[in-house]
Amino acid sequence: MLGHLLSRHGIDNVILESKSQSHVIERVRAGVLEQGTVDLMHQVGLGERLRRQGLRHEGLFLAFNGRRHRIDMTGLTNGRAITIYGQNEVVRDLIEARTAADCPLHFEAPAVAVRGIETARSVIEYEVAGERKRLSCDFVAGCDGFHGIAREAIPRGALQAYERAYPFGWLGILADAPPTSDELVYSLHPRGFALFSMRSPSVTRLYLQCDPDTDIREWPDDRVWDELRRRLATDDGWAPAEGAITQKAVTPMRSFVVEPMHHGRLFLAGDAAHIVPPTGAKGLNLAMADVSRLSQALLEFYTSRRTDLLESYSARGVRRAWQAQRFSWLMTSTLHRMNTDNDFDYKRQVAELDYLVGSRAAMTSLAENYVGMPFD
Ligand code: DHB
Repeated sequence: MLGHLLSRHGIDNVILESKSQSHVIERVRAGVLEQGTVDLMHQVGLGERLRRQGLRHEGLFLAFNGRRHRIDMTGLTNGRAITIYGQNEVVRDLIEARTAADCPLHFEAPAVAVRGIETARSVIEYEVAGERKRLSCDFVAGCDGFHGIAREAIPRGALQAYERAYPFGWLGILADAPPTSDELVYSLHPRGFALFSMRSPSVTRLYLQCDPDTDIREWPDDRVWDELRRRLATDDGWAPAEGAITQKAVTPMRSFVVEPMHHGRLFLAGDAAHIVPPTGAKGLNLAMADVSRLSQALLEFYTSRRTDLLESYSARGVRRAWQAQRFSWLMTSTLHRMNTDNDFDYKRQVAELDYLVGSRAAMTSLAENYVGMPFD
């Protein structure tokens, strides 16, 4: 997206992607686009397939004690909503646009070193087919994820990291089954959290809280469906429809923020700078807010040589990242069972949810955070 935003304004940029094109297009990842992300896609001419295939959701369900409770997100936020559209579909649209515009995009070209970020001329060393290459540039955008090398190029003492690991992960599946609810269902259950989501009118996406070290081979399809049924089915007879499981994977959960998000001519964006647990669906949207802000800052630099927006990039991003941490923490701790929890904690969680679904003030707070605060 950063490449797309810059190219639209005539700012030359090169994208180095370590994986193959098919890998990034096929790998199923997040799927909830905030209103700000949807608006950005439309503003930059990438909304055509999103308009046709995206599923606009105006509410969501919180389930506990055998009942589902709907939160009217749109009614509580002056018409805002979220849209279900796979992150990999966003990536596919971006690749198509970039290929059509003939802008440089190198797959299977891992960056191996970043140098000179404290000077006006940075260098990225990368590999293509085993051959070492050098790319010289004014700025480096570290959009290479939590395990990427960009953050490592910043001197240790210049960064402060804040981190928390969780004693659980999510087992996620994709199933050829029509969604039995038009909206997402987040469920607290004594056996652990479960989430009902979807990707299309014929594909359901489901998640289960699990042990972070669980071996996927311990989860044959029957066990997955059995556990999902137990945690999601409600007393009114609602349950997810079952079908062939086409993908199954375990995702660990982590919270992470690094401050600042910039050093010299290197700017970190997305998971390179911050990770949120997935409950609340903020990760992809935080990354979109980052690159939207970074593109404006670079545009200001190239049109007027002013650096005000580059200088405020990190402070604004860190603030948004902490707001997302706050919300994701609230959603995660309210809906998951911790291994140290006892019956008291479960009752407290139920009381929290009971308050939430009965209070317009509390529902409004959840709704405005879930659809996403405006991009600044
Ligand atoms: C999905 C992922 C999330 O983390 C979430 O909170 C809701 C939905 C999804 O992949 O559909």
